[in-house]
Amino acid sequence: MSVLLHISASTRGDASHSRRVGRALVEALRHAADVRLVTRDLAREPVPHADAAYFDAMLMPQAERGASETAALTLSETLIEELESADALVIDTPMHNFTVPSVLKAWVDQVVRVGRTFNTTPNGKVGLLRDRPVFVVVACGGSVAASDTHTESDATTSTGSHRGQTDFITPYLRYVFATIGITDVRTLRLEALRRSEAEFAHAEAFSARWIAAQAAEFAKSH
Ligand SMILES: Cc1cc2nc3c(=O)[nH]c(=O)nc-3n(C[C@H](O)[C@H](O)[C@H](O)COP(=O)(O)O)c2cc1C
Repeated sequence: MSVLLHISASTRGDASHSRRVGRALVEALRHAADVRLVTRDLAREPVPHADAAYFDAMLMPQAERGASETAALTLSETLIEELESADALVIDTPMHNFTVPSVLKAWVDQVVRVGRTFNTTPNGKVGLLRDRPVFVVVACGGSVAASDTHTESDATTSTGSHRGQTDFITPYLRYVFATIGITDVRTLRLEALRRSEAEFAHAEAFSARWIAAQAAEFAKSH
């Protein structure tokens, strides 16, 4: 049985667009394959910011760490083990000031750890985790510039009718996951869902098609 890790970051509970679409994606993936679901709600249980104790322990060679350094890395270790044991991830998140909300950034700071999930080499950083699909659903209040869909694995509900902002969240998450060895990142950006009923209906239909396509592919590989 595969493990599906579902991470949510919106503070808006049932009003959240990213949570609604993320939940629908999780249900579709569960329907497509035999998966055990693990959830981590970063809004309900925020991960603390990386502090000085974490920083010092992270940089200390493992053999030299004492009890206090081990304690400073306990949460990081838990989150990394949770990530390592997952065969696929769903992350649903709002865009906050063009990038990830701080609760998701705090999670990133605990799992992207030198000597644990990546190594530094003269040729740059080398990821230590095996690849696996990561599905990211991002909700934005506004529109993103039409030229700003970065790769063919990045989908958007935008109809392209509005000029938009720069999206730093999807390329950022793609880069973060690649750093630790995970390159199979597929994103769906929900844009400007409050602008009009037509825009919302279009986004819902687009999201449903995107979810069905991801689930069909997931069924073949799990
Ligand atoms: C602090 C904050 C910053 C935000 N920054 C942006 C932004 O940069 N671009 C944008 O399009 N929407 C921004 N929004 C709007 C949210 O992305 C939007 O309301 C989204 O639907 C929230 O996700 P949710 O519906 O899953 O809660 C921001 C909202 C908050 C609270």
